[in-house]
Amino acid sequence: MKRALIVTGGGDCPGLNAVIRAIVHRASKENDWEVLGSIQAFNGILWEPVEVVVLDNKKVSGIHFQGGTIIETTNKGGPFAWPVKDSKGNWTTVDRSDEMIRKLQNMNIDAVINIGGDGSQKISQKLFEKGLNIIGVPKTIDNDLSSTDSTFGFQTAVQIATEAVDKLVTTAASHNRVFMLEVMGRDAGWIALNTAVAGGAEVCLIPEIPYDIQKVKAALERRFKLDRGFAVVVVSEGAFPKGGGVVSQQSDEVGYENRILGGIARQLIVELKEAGFQHDMRETVLGHLQRGGVPVAYDRVLAAQFGVKAFEMAMNGDFGKMVSYRLPDFVAVPLKEAIAKPNLIKKKDALVQTARGLGICLGN
Ligand code: F6P
Repeated sequence: MKRALIVTGGGDCPGLNAVIRAIVHRASKENDWEVLGSIQAFNGILWEPVEVVVLDNKKVSGIHFQGGTIIETTNKGGPFAWPVKDSKGNWTTVDRSDEMIRKLQNMNIDAVINIGGDGSQKISQKLFEKGLNIIGVPKTIDNDLSSTDSTFGFQTAVQIATEAVDKLVTTAASHNRVFMLEVMGRDAGWIALNTAVAGGAEVCLIPEIPYDIQKVKAALERRFKLDRGFAVVVVSEGAFPKGGGVVSQQSDEVGYENRILGGIARQLIVELKEAGFQHDMRETVLGHLQRGGVPVAYDRVLAAQFGVKAFEMAMNGDFGKMVSYRLPDFVAVPLKEAIAKPNLIKKKDALVQTARGLGICLGN
């Protein structure tokens, strides 16, 4: 019997369960494969005792439309930076990757399928370089991985954010207000830009284009004067003003390396007031609502395709690679290539031109 181990790492994302189900269904068509899931990314292997679950067709039945991941996830620590307390009681990290690989060998794991974003795939590459038979499956609601045309979860996030704009429009119009909708997008503004176009926003601010508050103010005043008496601004959590920085806080969670973003919508209101903008303003921060719940059909289909392809790569020994959607095919790209550069919005991108063509102010 051969064994594949599924790991879900990083922030959760609608469609993770659909990938897990697809891997298990595809594996069950072979008579000589068993699939296990490690609880909470690689923690399940690193913990003593090990925490893994057997994933069979019964276990994954009906999970394709469930948000989250049935085997849990984490975006803290990991095999290369396992948090431990030193002799003075301060937190530090140790590299437990060799020990983890030995444990996987003792468990007779033939292939690891790591479903995760760029942080997780960097871990995959490092483990591959140490000899582990590993395959990556791209996951990110931010759509910031460059070696695949799409990642599951992104369309669901855009759908949720667009529905939020649709709701805000009616209250904004009733009160003649400007609404700032803050959406996820740490380094990449794809959720914001797609939401702004789909929802008909007047302004869209993204991390790739630092904004000029005077330009934002002018666009909003034009809207009130020439068009209608309300407006919607869609802003990525990672957006920032020219010459300024992102609004963030340090996390006190052990092993959490990211800064916690959030608050740019509020800051925009303050900056606009300081600049003399006189209309009423309110903010809505969507936060993790974008990551939870039922994946839209597109994401389920993509997740199913990634899962089937990932298992077939495992069967064929195609390790050190990540599944990638290169329209119209599903291909295997080297992990090294997959993590080389992020997928950020470029000024010449078609969607930027579309947004400008629609009259959306991008803050510059
Ligand atoms: O990378 C995906 C993402 O949703 C970012 O857009 C966001 O900044 C981050 O995760 C939030 O992560 P957490 O769940 O750790 O707060």
